[in-house]
Amino acid sequence: MSRMKTGLIDRLTAAAPRYTSYPTAPHFHAGVDDRTYAGWLTALAPGTSVSLYLHIPFCDTLCWFCGCHTKATRHYAPIASYLRLLHEEIARVASMLPPGVTVRQIHWGGGSPTILTAEDISALATAIRGAFPLDARAEFAVEIDPRGLSHAQIKALLDAGLTRASFGVQDFDPDVQQAINRVQSFELTRAVIDTFRLGGIGSINVDVLYGLPRQSTIALTKTLLKVLSLEPERIALFGYAHVPWLKKHQAMIEETDLPHPMERFRGAQLAAELLSAFGYQRIGIDHFAKPDDSLSTAARAGQLRRNFQGYTDDDCEAVIGLGASAISRLPQGYVQNAVPVSEYGQLLNERVLPVTRGFELGAEDRVRAHAIERLMCDFRLNAGDLRARFGADADAVMADTEKIAESDCRDLVVKEGDMLWVTEEGRPFVRLVCAALDGYFGHGAARHSHAV
Ligand SMILES: C[S@@+](CC[C@H](N)C(=O)[O-])C[C@H]1O[C@@H](n2cnc3c(N)ncnc32)[C@H](O)[C@@H]1O
Ligand code: SF4
Repeated sequence: MSRMKTGLIDRLTAAAPRYTSYPTAPHFHAGVDDRTYAGWLTALAPGTSVSLYLHIPFCDTLCWFCGCHTKATRHYAPIASYLRLLHEEIARVASMLPPGVTVRQIHWGGGSPTILTAEDISALATAIRGAFPLDARAEFAVEIDPRGLSHAQIKALLDAGLTRASFGVQDFDPDVQQAINRVQSFELTRAVIDTFRLGGIGSINVDVLYGLPRQSTIALTKTLLKVLSLEPERIALFGYAHVPWLKKHQAMIEETDLPHPMERFRGAQLAAELLSAFGYQRIGIDHFAKPDDSLSTAARAGQLRRNFQGYTDDDCEAVIGLGASAISRLPQGYVQNAVPVSEYGQLLNERVLPVTRGFELGAEDRVRAHAIERLMCDFRLNAGDLRARFGADADAVMADTEKIAESDCRDLVVKEGDMLWVTEEGRPFVRLVCAALDGYFGHGAARHSHAV
């Protein structure tokens, strides 16, 4: 078990995963392949509810901060060829699902799903509805780049049954926008969001980033006040993850323009206080939601979940990822599709499923995965609950929670009886607490962004 550091600066600059899965993706391996995945899909029990995630790995231009799996393209031809592959994968995966499996959530992410033409948006939504048995109340969420969005595209999304729209904003300050190669006015953003509202969309999310180059605390505050004037149901306030060793284009960002870790930390704290003062409930490490939003209700009930898209109230038993780089979570474990679009296409031509790696969960992995998810969602962990759920398999993890409480991090956690609590001061460092429960942390060559 790794020990947590005590000094504030040490903790602010310590690296830790964001724990959107356990084990995290760098520990996936080629031992789990397309045949493993096919076996897992066909073994889904009737009655299982699934969530679909579709990845569109293209954007008009690259934002220099971007950490997503995407590529800039000026031409539509690569997108059209990719869509042919995606339609093929949809048909193949759907044909493997046993009867009685139902889709309850659909999420399109990227990249920018709104790079698709209106016709292609409609065709993709129709293909999904035709291929998978959809629950009548299925939710349909899409990540939207407001820049250059046409009325025809908005209409196509609304006609396709969109229920939740998530908009990338990042920061409205012109100097910051120049430093990140993303110019997007407040007026345009407001006009696009208003159009979706008028179209009947009652659930709007806006993404904002802190820790951006040239972003002062004042710039961040002004951006948040503008975002608040849009009255989104949810706000995702992510810390900019600077990982130029993984994302080469981030080298376009001058490191001297990045805020000092202490300033970044203060910015995040002030932002959280501002959003709370405006009545938003804090959800996990980076989300805020109106108190009557389903995410807030799930958080209060201890039913919040964490998956590859972040925090969710989606309680589906399985996530099926479609498209290049998409990750699926099945009862047995995780699988990931090939990341480069070329390899994704090649694999779809050679075999049935374009999977390159994954991870089959062992008994102790399941306990650690549950413990880490509860800490990331609730900031507390009930050892009694772990024992009741997992029996003797929970022993090693429970021993680790004892060590965490006794180690040099008393200011981050407290142990009361069976309950391990992350304190208010420890909240920003919960990723470090989780890393101390991570059986694979520090093994392998994975490098992570700052934990705060
Ligand atoms: C797929 S994009 C959202 C949709 C659309 N492509 C857009 O940018 O408007 C997902 C979100 O991830 C966040 N993001 C991207 N790169 C990041 C990074 N390096 N660190 C933290 N958050 C990041 C941004 O807030 C972004 O809005
Ligand atoms: S933030 Fe969104 S628009 Fe910008 S490069 Fe990343 S995926 Fe594309």
